[in-house]
Amino acid sequence: MATEILTVVGARPQFVKASVVSSALAALGRHEAIIHTGQHYDHAMSGAFFRDLNIPEPVVDLGISGGSHAAMTAAMLVALADEMERRAPALVLLYGDTNSTLAGALAAAKLGLPIAHVEAGPRMGNREHPEETNRILVDHLADLLLVPTDLCADNLRREGLGARVRVVGDTQLDALRAHAPLAVPPGLEGDFVVATVHRAQNTDQPQRLAAIMAGLALCPYPVVLPLHPRTAEAMARHGLATPANTRVLPPQGYLEMLGLMAGCRFAITDSGGVPKEAFYLGRRSLTISSETPWPELAMADATRVVGCDLALWRDGLVWADRPLDPVDNPFGDGRTGQRIAGIIAAFLDEMP
Ligand code: UD1
Repeated sequence: MATEILTVVGARPQFVKASVVSSALAALGRHEAIIHTGQHYDHAMSGAFFRDLNIPEPVVDLGISGGSHAAMTAAMLVALADEMERRAPALVLLYGDTNSTLAGALAAAKLGLPIAHVEAGPRMGNREHPEETNRILVDHLADLLLVPTDLCADNLRREGLGARVRVVGDTQLDALRAHAPLAVPPGLEGDFVVATVHRAQNTDQPQRLAAIMAGLALCPYPVVLPLHPRTAEAMARHGLATPANTRVLPPQGYLEMLGLMAGCRFAITDSGGVPKEAFYLGRRSLTISSETPWPELAMADATRVVGCDLALWRDGLVWADRPLDPVDNPFGDGRTGQRIAGIIAAFLDEMP
């Protein structure tokens, strides 16, 4: 009988989430093999994460990246289906909402393999984000929907998927707690703000990217901007420069990023993960997309959606600098990895 759990990862945030579940599966003596699609390939965005987070070496790196979303997803689908057919795993384990996740779900579904989806359920209500389409499709294909919060569970129930849902909490909280003591201090004098920008919605629209740079210039503190290659490329293409108060850094490793977030006044970001991590560290964030996948954070008064509207930025910059009142954490207790490993183990043990 097949026992292998086949994990598919490819992009930076997935390495963080998978590290938590991998170690919990190993603790249960379960056999996992990791496939890296190659979507993120720079050492700073991939290899460094495997090293710092002690993730087992992938059994294969497919080396598929870049090109259109269709070309990338299609190439991954073909290559992943080949690997899955050869390995005949008992279950395919997927994370988040990237093209690697979608390709993994399609490949597994075509072969009739069971799918577990970690971080199922967030909805932005706007298909302009490629991540939204990926999530919806993957959630509908998956057999186990491992959701971080009650709101995510509600979203899935509304789509008729309630029977497959298990609320487990957020793997990023486990990862952060485990690694916070190892966070690399930023080595910066005085107060600063940390910013990240990489969503297609912002990088592909020059007027949005220009507004974000104008917003950063309004910051009352120096801004540290670890720059995603997609954004660096878009800035160059549109002839945009960063403001004088902003220091550009290369993409940061996990422990360096934790150090920056633990040391900052607040975060400004279009990332899905950074606002959660800032919240776990007691920091507010400004969300610079048109909506947040995490209304839980808005309800906790921990993030504010300011988009690219400079009037909202002005108010938001004052709000974000005020201390965050402690609230119950809607993202669980930091034992999500163990919980997911237990659910997957029970699912496999009950399989005919
Ligand atoms: C992807 C995910 C996004 C996730 C993000 C984390 C999708 C649709 N999007 O977006 O949900 O939040 O990863 O970072 O899957 N590049 C490099 N080096 C790398 C990787 C990428 O230079 O290691 C460049 C390439 O030119 C590439 C571009 O960045 O074409 C964009 O990368 P891509 O993987 O398409 O999407 P992300 O913006 O990283």
